[in-house]
Amino acid sequence: FRTLRWAWRLSLLSALGGVGWIGYGVYQDRHPEPQIEADPTKKTLVILGTGWGSVSLLKRLDTENYNVIVISPRNYFLFTPLLPSCTTGTIEHRSIMEPIRTILRHKRANVKFYEAEASSIDPDRKVVRVIDNSEVKGATVETEVPYDMLVIGVGAENATFGIPGVRENSCFLKEIADAQLIRKKIMDCVETAAFKDQSPEEIDRLLHMVVVGGGPTGVEFAGELQDFFEEDIKKLIPDISDRFRVTLIEALPNVLPSFSKQLIEYTESTFKEEKIDIKTKTMVKKVTDKTVEAEITGPDGKKEKVVFPYGLLVWATGNAVRPVVKDLMVRIPAQKDSRRGLAVNEYLVVQGTRDIWAVGDCAVAGYAPTAQVAGQEGTFLARLFNNMAKTEALEENIRDLSGSLNLKPGNAAEVSREIEENERQLRRIKDVKPFHYSHQGSLAYIGSEKAVADVSWFNGNFASGGSLTYLFWRSAYLSMCFSTRNRLLVINDWLKSKLFGRDVSRE
Ligand code: FAD
Ligand code: NAI
Repeated sequence: FRTLRWAWRLSLLSALGGVGWIGYGVYQDRHPEPQIEADPTKKTLVILGTGWGSVSLLKRLDTENYNVIVISPRNYFLFTPLLPSCTTGTIEHRSIMEPIRTILRHKRANVKFYEAEASSIDPDRKVVRVIDNSEVKGATVETEVPYDMLVIGVGAENATFGIPGVRENSCFLKEIADAQLIRKKIMDCVETAAFKDQSPEEIDRLLHMVVVGGGPTGVEFAGELQDFFEEDIKKLIPDISDRFRVTLIEALPNVLPSFSKQLIEYTESTFKEEKIDIKTKTMVKKVTDKTVEAEITGPDGKKEKVVFPYGLLVWATGNAVRPVVKDLMVRIPAQKDSRRGLAVNEYLVVQGTRDIWAVGDCAVAGYAPTAQVAGQEGTFLARLFNNMAKTEALEENIRDLSGSLNLKPGNAAEVSREIEENERQLRRIKDVKPFHYSHQGSLAYIGSEKAVADVSWFNGNFASGGSLTYLFWRSAYLSMCFSTRNRLLVINDWLKSKLFGRDVSRE
């Protein structure tokens, strides 16, 4: 009884702590401190993008040290790890969006935000050319924004490798609009298949959902899609239930190539149980409005052409360089051998430039293009810039103090002491170590309330897959959500879809 009583007290205490923590988060969100005005005499720091790299930088940047301007066509931060859940309505899209205006309002000094796209960067004149495609203007507005320091965090676009028909016929999965389109198309396929007098071949085609790319995006989406079908569509529209199929096509011999062998096997066997058909060693060559044409390499090395009729096609074959980045790479001779993005040094400075840094998927620093890398790079740059500002302030102080030595001979000892202290601080601050990425592990949802995790554990690696890992996956992503608001909305969505099922209405 005594143990029970203690357990009860402890759980009550932690529940109260949890409520207090959420309450504090909500209060802070709604009551930001008054901001100081940005000082235009300070260096202008222009940050491109509002993704993982740029927002991590903004989160920790002391904005009073610079005149900060953020430019991005997206006026929100998107928590991409939960984007696949938005394609089926497990999570509503707004739950994983955090307005950039809210983020900026919580900074100590005011930050300017322009909703626009950078179209080119001139490193000689130190200007960024930006385009505002706002619908209310009716016409495109183009202008230039000068910078003293520039951070490029524009991410990447979808790779199609120039395969004919991909752009015209596929859905991608990178942005909120992509997830919304997929959600709409799934239900369009289902409702059209259920329509009167459809031929059996047409029903099979419409209900065949093809995913190209067996990386984490393709795998997570396939898992979410099969869940949606098993848990909701099958119950609501039983007459088409035996026709729904998900096929995952991958060019390599296995899916999730970046995960350990054990987890690859676990994922493939789970997909088999979930009735997701995996076609490995299958390279897509062409896409039409109703078919995917691919080449399968058999065990004997022979290649065979196959055609998959589809209703929905989701293309998830990784990243390609954005035009604005390509354009800059052409202007810088030191970038001529770089293919995957802007080559950066160990301080994330774009090779061959001055005062330009790059973070995240558009930067080539020797790491995988993940949110984890982008986030750590952004945090590193914030520390670097905060230190640079402090260094400049200390150097100025030392200059002033040295100048005053002659003017105040009586205080010489005191002033010298102060100079020494400033110099000591300066040495400490100047000693910024180069960027070092610390890998925390990889997680992926694979459907049926199962996940796989390759987690770094002390100096080793810990691989696990299953339902417990799924709970870990959920709690890890919940804790990583940007704000308390996001966390509460995501919990609410999870509860809602569990209790009432996903919403199958097509908007
Ligand atoms: P992004 O986050 O893509 O941000 C780029 C920003 O630049 C955006 O705000 C965009 O609007 C803006 N922009 C674009 N063009 C311009 C322009 N011309 N001018 C100005 N701004 C521009 N990684 C993980 O580590 N774990 C995961 O679980 C995970 N899940 C993922 C799930 C999905 C579905 C996807 C697509 C990716 C996932 N990733 C995950 C990868 C991760 O999202 C990316 O690596 C990360 O977003 C890269 O951050 P970034 O800041 O470089 O780019
Ligand atoms: P990816 O680059 O990881 O995988 C793309 C896959 O498509 C590759 O396996 C490739 O072999 C295959 N492919 C390419 N062309 C093909 C073709 N013509 N036919 C058939 N298959 C083809 O891309 P993904 O999944 O979009 O991920 C991008 C980045 O985002 C990665 O770094 C990934 O780690 C990260 N990410 C991480 C997640 C997580 O940790 N849970 C979730 C989603 C993305």
